[in-house]
Amino acid sequence: MRRKLAAGNWKMNGLAASVDEITALAGMVSDTTVEVLICPPATLVHRASSAADGTPVMIGGQDCHIAESGAHTGDVSAEMLVDAGAAYVIVGHSERRADHGETDAMVAAKADAAERAGLGAIICVGETEAQRDAGDTLAIVETQLSNSVPEGVSVETTVIAYEPVWAIGTGRTPTLEQIAEVHDFLRATLAARFGEDAANGMRLLYGGSVKPSNAAEIFAVSNVDGALVGGASLKAADFGAIVEALNEAD
Ligand code: 13P
Repeated sequence: MRRKLAAGNWKMNGLAASVDEITALAGMVSDTTVEVLICPPATLVHRASSAADGTPVMIGGQDCHIAESGAHTGDVSAEMLVDAGAAYVIVGHSERRADHGETDAMVAAKADAAERAGLGAIICVGETEAQRDAGDTLAIVETQLSNSVPEGVSVETTVIAYEPVWAIGTGRTPTLEQIAEVHDFLRATLAARFGEDAANGMRLLYGGSVKPSNAAEIFAVSNVDGALVGGASLKAADFGAIVEALNEAD
């Protein structure tokens, strides 16, 4: 059985006082059976980890460098995230692919770096609106999946997040049929490459405008094992409601 995962991506939001939201969230999710993860900005990983210590809430990073250490001004390594208390790292988010020119090969190297450091990697894929309109969605996510997920990844610690770029921060979501189509396709593509058992062990998250009001219907979609949530993860009340919806999903 795949353990469901509710992951929050705070992006470039949050100051020290925001850690109070993590404390509040921890109070709301004490009985949940799903995994709960908050990925605050790198500046808050250590502080957030301390706040979440002894609670079900795990903390993650939003990106990591491919190297363990070295002359890479401004970057953060997977080992540093572990040292700060992180359990996961997001790699290949579309905002990093767009803002920092990250290629599939770089994303795969980052996922490798995460695994080497003992971090779970949440590897993001997803099409732009133009690509969807052109009918290229499955081809795009297949290429991203093939090239962003490294060989020999561990099933338990690798998570795939499908985030249609046009659904991120827009309030728009794909239809449930569209989400099912992509998630079923991702599972089949992983099975063809890694085998049925491995593919069945990997969590597939949906991301893009998930909120308390649409979470339950999205979590009922086949092959959706949780969500990667941006805006609605910033407030404990909203994210707690999403965790609750995931906990109640079959
Ligand atoms: P929103 O939930 O704000 O649309 O962001 C989704 C996302 O990009 C999470 O990584």
